[in-house]
Amino acid sequence: MKGVILAGGTGSRLMPLTKAVNKHLLPVGPYPMIYWSIMKLEEAGIKDILLITQKEYLPQFHKLIGTGEELGVTVTYQVQPAASGISDGLSYAKRFAGKEPFILLLGDNVFEDSLRPFTERFEKQGKGAKVLLKEVNDPERFGIAEIDEQHNKIRSIIEKPEKPPTNLCVTGIYMYDAEVFSYIEQISPSKRGELEITDVNNLYIEHSQLTYDVLTGWWVDAGTHESLHLASTLAYQALQKGQEK
Ligand code: DAU
Repeated sequence: MKGVILAGGTGSRLMPLTKAVNKHLLPVGPYPMIYWSIMKLEEAGIKDILLITQKEYLPQFHKLIGTGEELGVTVTYQVQPAASGISDGLSYAKRFAGKEPFILLLGDNVFEDSLRPFTERFEKQGKGAKVLLKEVNDPERFGIAEIDEQHNKIRSIIEKPEKPPTNLCVTGIYMYDAEVFSYIEQISPSKRGELEITDVNNLYIEHSQLTYDVLTGWWVDAGTHESLHLASTLAYQALQKGQEK
């Protein structure tokens, strides 16, 4: 399976840290944020990775990651001309993905779980899509899943709901078949002017093609000052635990 990492966007919730530096290059523990996504993919045996960002940030990523060799992976790059939404960014992975299923990571998500059990389950699923959920205390910030518990299915996903129906966040870890690119062509910009990944996931629900699993370890969207700090603390703790073993 191939991997796609989105590492563009404006990082507006992290100003002024992101005024001159791309969000995904900020430190999380002893590493730049983007390393965590790459290391998680590598650990799951996913070595062929496409990194998508805006043109202005490419030199910084090239300098840091280059071909990916030092991290044990092969990284290629694609430009998303403007930060017009996650689905828009993903559309630039069409040629890279080809007809094969792949995993998409949002580069500001830092988490504990290994990806391997989920990618293996998705490979068995063979088609459609899978999302990973996590309980959160601040559901207004995220895409939130409404669950049909009887049938173990997601009924719908609401992006940044004012009155969240649950506190089950759809994390930025997604697995898709190649159908995703035709779904992206079917959606329109949201109120915030972006092509939303939630709209694509809801199309998979309409076609009864979306499964889910729940993360058991910690998970952080490191896109705000508080959460960036938390991600760093948890990352250091995880590394320490690893060294004690
Ligand atoms: O972290 C999980 C959440 O991520 C989900 O629960 C939401 O459903 C999903 O919409 C997303 O919400 P955010 O508001 O946190 O998305 P954000 O704009 O921060 O972008 C997420 C990542 O995608 C970040 O690493 C930057 C990258 N990105 C974003 C945009 C809008 C791009 O590469 N290009 C873009 O155009």
